[in-house]
Amino acid sequence: MSSRIFTPVTVGSLTLPTRIVRSATELFGSLPDGHVPPEEIAIYRRLSREPLGLILTAHTCVSPEGRANRYQNAFWDDGYLPDGHAIAEACGQIPCIMQLGHGGMKAKGSNGGLPVYTPDTMTEREIRELVCAFGRAALRAKEAGFAGVMLHVAHLYLFSQFFYPEFNHRTDRYGGSAENRFRIAAECAEEIHAVCGDGYPVLMKINATDRDGTAEYERDVADALRVAGKCGIAAAESSGWDSAPCVITDRPYFLDVVRRLAETAALPLIEVGGIRCAADVEAILDAGAVAASVSRPLLCDPSFPTRLREEERHRSPCRSCGFCFRPYPERGRICAMHKSS
Ligand SMILES: Cc1cc2nc3c(=O)[nH]c(=O)nc-3n(C[C@H](O)[C@H](O)[C@H](O)COP(=O)(O)O)c2cc1C
Repeated sequence: MSSRIFTPVTVGSLTLPTRIVRSATELFGSLPDGHVPPEEIAIYRRLSREPLGLILTAHTCVSPEGRANRYQNAFWDDGYLPDGHAIAEACGQIPCIMQLGHGGMKAKGSNGGLPVYTPDTMTEREIRELVCAFGRAALRAKEAGFAGVMLHVAHLYLFSQFFYPEFNHRTDRYGGSAENRFRIAAECAEEIHAVCGDGYPVLMKINATDRDGTAEYERDVADALRVAGKCGIAAAESSGWDSAPCVITDRPYFLDVVRRLAETAALPLIEVGGIRCAADVEAILDAGAVAASVSRPLLCDPSFPTRLREEERHRSPCRSCGFCFRPYPERGRICAMHKSS
């Protein structure tokens, strides 16, 4: 196919060989201590054979009290460097970005009884310590061979909780205006650049919608994107409140939002959600994003990007059933449609 989809694009100091991104996808298979099992490395190795522009890893935890579920990968000390190295190496020539995050309230019940961080209760000192933990994790990622890191500011994990006014009632510089609610993420980006160098790519994923899809929240996101551009964030992947709805739609879920955000965004946008065929990717590029990101279609069929390249009308067999979101090891399978798993 001679479309833009399989042409390169530059994002900061990164060159994406194609416009299809593997969105961050937790595989819920880590060992109890947070180490990455060989089965997960094999999944990255399989992805490396696809015409992808970027591989975003699973959401990886930077600090023990932030472990968002008991199957989440950890990266909070140097003992996890070999895991990181194995993932980065498995991705081969495709730039691989480690997604870093903290579960905040979602860590309740899975962080071994450690204190649960919330926007309202965190002290300034705890915020500073966490920002430093992000810096150390990013340096580790750089040493392990990752092309960059992504801050998880979406899906109601800690930074997303900070950004939604309904979870953040602070009256100091981390609460109130959109800029203040985004500050903790901005400080992480600055810290990462301070320890890894200005050129080390920091991306972020952010929810572009709130529960009710209000224009007010969308304006807040536009403000956050302005701040993100100023503090050197290389690109933003925009998701939404209901990040992986279990419905089949005839167009990507957040297409209209990204079109509006792209009008003012000072940094490249990557769009995720409901992208199932080449026409969806083209629509995303037409809307002003530089790349389209997919998660469930790759769990369903890892050869999805190759199929898109080879068959213009190919459509992912993914039914968006959401089965893959609960593939805890005891359940055995990762996708209702993927026969070989
Ligand atoms: C099994 C599963 C795990 C996911 N893990 C992550 C994650 O670690 N980090 C993240 O930002 N999003 C995660 N997501 C959300 C996806 O990246 C994506 O935003 C969402 O599934 C919508 O895209 P899709 O319609 O292509 O699946 C996950 C989604 C699924 C289905």
